[in-house]
Amino acid sequence: MSAIERSGNLNRRQWLKGAGVVVSASLTPISLLHAAMPVGSSKIIPQPDHIIRANFNENPYGLSRVALRAIQNTFNKAGHYDWGPRLKVIDVMTQLHDLPPDQIILGSGSGEILKVAGLMAGMKQGSVVCADPTYDDLIRFAEKNGAEIIKVPVRQDLGIDLERMKKAIRKDTKIVYIVNPNNPIPSIIAKRELESFVKDVSKRCLVFVDEAYFEFVDDPVYGSMIDLVRAGQKNLIVTRTASKIHGMAGLRVGFGFGHADLLKELDKIKTGQMNILGLAGAAASYTDTEFQQFTLRKTRESKMIMEEMIAELGLRSTKSHANFVFFDTGHTVEEINKRLKEKGILSGRPFPPYLTWSRVSLQKPEEMRYFVQTYKQLFG
Ligand SMILES: Cc1ncc(COP(=O)(O)O)c(C=O)c1O
Repeated sequence: MSAIERSGNLNRRQWLKGAGVVVSASLTPISLLHAAMPVGSSKIIPQPDHIIRANFNENPYGLSRVALRAIQNTFNKAGHYDWGPRLKVIDVMTQLHDLPPDQIILGSGSGEILKVAGLMAGMKQGSVVCADPTYDDLIRFAEKNGAEIIKVPVRQDLGIDLERMKKAIRKDTKIVYIVNPNNPIPSIIAKRELESFVKDVSKRCLVFVDEAYFEFVDDPVYGSMIDLVRAGQKNLIVTRTASKIHGMAGLRVGFGFGHADLLKELDKIKTGQMNILGLAGAAASYTDTEFQQFTLRKTRESKMIMEEMIAELGLRSTKSHANFVFFDTGHTVEEINKRLKEKGILSGRPFPPYLTWSRVSLQKPEEMRYFVQTYKQLFG
């Protein structure tokens, strides 16, 4: 906190005393600052008339207008199975990633592809190696279907520990699952490091790289593993989703990119067909770069608001490379969530073993300003 801010709090403390307010010794200067703001002050942000959904890493702007128009234009084909829009979206993906159609698989969200891979590992009575914590769709499904899960804790700096993951691989390991950027910890693995890991580990088992938050990364060391798929790498699958930057979580469209033989194997145990409205929306959205840029700009703005708060309160955190932040609140997540919910904010569930760390999905900047005001009032 700067000297100017400190002196500002002192004045407010004096103001509080003068106003006859009893000041608890446990209150920090920041909560004083907010407690001291007279009601009606232009600085106070009123509670929005809607719930702030900072719990699921969705796009707060929903889907793009271009995608919405494409969906509206597809309603009159709702009586058809998915072939037309399916071919269209695959065509968009082949052009975007310079891959043939047989190297692309569609899923009801990328979650379906994750679960199918998990099911495959279970059916083969194998083990799955993953970071801890990480996204758990694949892991839960693998475990429920008979696979053993080998969890490798993240490093001290909260990054995924590739060296230890490599050492954890056993003869029966069917999948090594890497989420990059990770979730709930929004850390990244550099492209060169992950590439050499994939080349090495794929000699022994399938490497599954989940790039659900790929679009949000602006660090130049980061890069997609789709380049390796394009170069002919076997035993690798990379997934992406229309649920995040494209704002289509409810429409359930996800993509997998891999060697054609591997995708055929996965396809055999897939159960769902696609929803044509989702497919039409995705085909349009992936060509609408303007909306993606808009979302990125807003996400960056929201991230700065949260980073400022985290720095100001001196909370432990890790740099975010996604559309959410993760920081140590010093309170249980249950308590944090309960009290935020009373103020109209939903935030992420507990992620063991980080039971005092909160995952907050970046919403609109104005919503994040309200979040910061509320958080400081409650816990600052
Ligand atoms: C890392 C990661 N992968 C995959 C998914 C699944 O997303 P969807 O099934 O909506 O594509 C999520 C959802 O939050 C996620 O965080």
